[in-house]
Amino acid sequence: MQKILLATSNRHKYLEFSRLLYPLTLEALPEDLKRLLPNETAKSYRDNAKLKGMALSEIYEGFVLADDSGLEVFSLHGEPGIFSSRYAGEGSSAQENIDKLLKNLQSKNITDRRARFVCALVLVKKKKVLFETTAFCYGIIADRQKGGGGFGYDPIFIPEGYSLTMAELDEKQKDLVSHRGKACQELKAFFLENRMEGHS
Ligand code: IMP
Repeated sequence: MQKILLATSNRHKYLEFSRLLYPLTLEALPEDLKRLLPNETAKSYRDNAKLKGMALSEIYEGFVLADDSGLEVFSLHGEPGIFSSRYAGEGSSAQENIDKLLKNLQSKNITDRRARFVCALVLVKKKKVLFETTAFCYGIIADRQKGGGGFGYDPIFIPEGYSLTMAELDEKQKDLVSHRGKACQELKAFFLENRMEGHS
């Protein structure tokens, strides 16, 4: 029985993916392998995910799952996009990124607040891409932040069909609508269809 190594050092993502992919079993990236994660230098989510998956597949024989995600605001031409985690500068906090985004929309008097979250997933084994997908979650940017759940831009993102921000939804609700939730459903279907084992 094989585990799937998750190519991220983001603890929030590990917890979300573990929940979303159950009963597939994820292995967190050991501390000594985190240095192998390459910088996200590619121009697309997919290629960034592939960079990470391939780098770890160099030293790990089993399944490696890598992702790249971000938030795109349509009226800001897709910003922050692939730079979502460092929108307010290298090493910026989620709060600094949120503040910059809200300030940007306000200072430009932007009323069209439509946005989407994007999640690209790549499954690699022995340096071969076995599966890849990109999934979306559409919504709008709230006027001000609300809620204490989730991470990143969750407190300012209201998914389509909801009046609460992602940070106000409980985990089950977020998993149903989120970009990551949708991508993981596809990955689980892939494992089932191909009768592959990723269970512990
Ligand atoms: P990366 O995929 O590690 O490059 O990080 C993507 C960044 O996009 C995160 O640091 C968050 O700022 C943002 N992001 C991606 N997915 C989510 C989500 O589900 N909720 C909130 N923010 C997210």
